[in-house]
Amino acid sequence: MNQMKALVLSGGAGTRLRPITHTSAKQLVPVANKAVLFYGLESVAAAGVTEVGMIVGDTAAEIQDAVGDGSKFGLRVTYIPQERPLGLAHAVLIARDYLGDDDFVMYLGDNFVVGGITELVDGFRRNRPDAQILLTRVPDPRAFGVAELDPSGQVICLEEKPEHPKSDLALVGVYLFTPAIHDAVRAIEPSWRGELEITHAIQHLIDAHADVRSTVIRGYWKDTGNVVDMLEVNRTVLEGLDRRIDGTVDERSETIGRVVVEEGARVTNSRVVGPCVIGAGTVVSDSYVGPFTSVAENCRITHSELEFSIVLRDSSIDGVGRIESSLIGRHVQVTPAPNVPSAHRLVLGDHSKVQIHS
Ligand code: DAU
Repeated sequence: MNQMKALVLSGGAGTRLRPITHTSAKQLVPVANKAVLFYGLESVAAAGVTEVGMIVGDTAAEIQDAVGDGSKFGLRVTYIPQERPLGLAHAVLIARDYLGDDDFVMYLGDNFVVGGITELVDGFRRNRPDAQILLTRVPDPRAFGVAELDPSGQVICLEEKPEHPKSDLALVGVYLFTPAIHDAVRAIEPSWRGELEITHAIQHLIDAHADVRSTVIRGYWKDTGNVVDMLEVNRTVLEGLDRRIDGTVDERSETIGRVVVEEGARVTNSRVVGPCVIGAGTVVSDSYVGPFTSVAENCRITHSELEFSIVLRDSSIDGVGRIESSLIGRHVQVTPAPNVPSAHRLVLGDHSKVQIHS
């Protein structure tokens, strides 16, 4: 079998509108206390690909800090700096020397594919079409590349962020390519947004009657700033958790079901019901932490109840009654204030300070 590489895209400026982590690389947005990019790298490794070219931009230092040489994922990562985010096809262009004549999987670092890509990569290796794209049905395809298929499932055409989408089939940010893509990325012109679009390069292949196949998948997510979506993907990932108590739980506490208490975390006089994860160095005391909750590192949850929520690192929630369906950023403090009803739905950005009544 010929060798395959991966090209993982973690460049870009990270300036999309999101309530959380607008200051850092969007590929590092956490899902169940782990960066989205890490799930992608794990999927690549699980599919038997070990050589990874990583495209980095403005946030290179942050990405490099998080991923290192890739050995913790069983990967060998080579960093490929991209001067500016000039497009996904531009990333392929500058990776030409690294990729050589190998087939490769291109993986957008901010995309999340539930269940990984092993089956897809295996299928591609067996059939070896010129290119293979993944599609998923979305409610509003205008923010994506959109595919039109004929009744037999053959791709007729692809459009990038169309105003009037021809279908609800969005391009997922995982593509499988043979070296045929290299001529295609050289043949196209920048789009209206000044980027070399991979969508156009694939259309170029289709126009040249290349064998471009598509697979429709379910279980796809990317961060669009939609809190409901983020809680949902967090829930999906937590459902696959195995129970693991590496931190300390005192005898007045109860942990039920698939609970992860990371090393250095402390649970005292509290009830923790899984699936949920309590990050390293976090203290939960005199509290209830309920299902589908991720509490990141170095947080303090005291005299409170928390369920179906995400709390990012270095935040504290103290004496505020019950919090549900909430996304709480980093370095946030939630403290009580007197005399108001105690139902709260919160979306708080990094470094917020909020006083709420308990
Ligand atoms: O997420 C799926 C969508 O990704 C597809 O449906 C679209 O067809 C495709 O064009 C792309 O659209 P986006 O506009 O959402 O891509 P974005 O600019 O957000 O970049 C995707 C990832 O690639 C992100 O992690 C940043 C990285 N990137 C992006 C560009 C433009 C780079 O590393 N270099 C770049 O030049």
